[in-house]
Amino acid sequence: MENIKFNFNDKNVVVTGGASGIGFKITSSFLQAGAKVSIWDYSQEALDVAKKELAQYASQLHLAQVDVTNRQSISAAATSLPWAVDVLINNAGITRDKSFAKLSESDWDAVISTNLTGLFNVAKGLFEKFNGSSAQKRIINISSVVGLYGNFGQANYASAKAGVIGFTKTLGKELGRKGFTVNAIAPGFIRTAMTNAMPKEVLTGMEAKVPVARLGEVEDIANACMFLASEQASYINGTVVSVDGGIVL
Ligand SMILES: NC(=O)c1ccc[n+]([C@@H]2O[C@H](COP(=O)([O-])OP(=O)(O)OC[C@H]3O[C@@H](n4cnc5c(N)ncnc54)[C@H](O)[C@@H]3O)[C@@H](O)[C@H]2O)c1
Repeated sequence: MENIKFNFNDKNVVVTGGASGIGFKITSSFLQAGAKVSIWDYSQEALDVAKKELAQYASQLHLAQVDVTNRQSISAAATSLPWAVDVLINNAGITRDKSFAKLSESDWDAVISTNLTGLFNVAKGLFEKFNGSSAQKRIINISSVVGLYGNFGQANYASAKAGVIGFTKTLGKELGRKGFTVNAIAPGFIRTAMTNAMPKEVLTGMEAKVPVARLGEVEDIANACMFLASEQASYINGTVVSVDGGIVL
């Protein structure tokens, strides 16, 4: 699928969890559209692979090993950022799926601290690094369809992703006057390396539930991010954009 053509020359973007999966596609799409991108990811291995795969964009790319649950690592990365920030994509996330009866305290804590507190940590740690003079500052938080509707076996994940929506709406209210828009994206079932490894019949079953008759692609999320980050989206604030093919209809 062709990317929508956006121009992000002179814009600087931070993508958490940008070394693989959806975050990698978001990163490569912004690079392709002319932005400078800093990937913040805790996996050095994934960062090394991403650096190789994005070699053609070396002059626009900055990589930092950052754990979004660790405020010290965020503070160090924010200090070493070579440019002021225009766009933050809070994308890093994990799952620890189990039914409530089996869900342990550590499953709960890990998902809440990465998928919810992690977004607070990064937004807070980067706040002073945003481009003060810009009236087009953007924070885009990756939530999930599960944060809107819940899901069996995902009490921790659904709670964190619902929290992301409350965080988004509140920052949208507070920061609008300071030149920010703050929005969330709620992806449905997106095809990534992880989902591709699932049994074919499971994927076919999922596909059958989606009104547009296909699973989501990483490009679908990257395109929504680029639109929300663009100047054309400057009146969209504090909302949740579902990118799910209508799966919940
Ligand atoms: N894949 C889907 O179907 C789907 C659906 C809805 C929402 N999402 C959300 O989209 C986002 C990306 O998901 P994905 O499928 O690409 O996942 P992924 O596992 O493929 O990639 C996640 C990336 O985040 C990084 N990461 C994880 N924890 C981190 C931490 N503490 N600090 C820094 N980096 C960390 C990982 O190293 C990895 O590079 C997540 O927030 C996820 O919850 C995904």
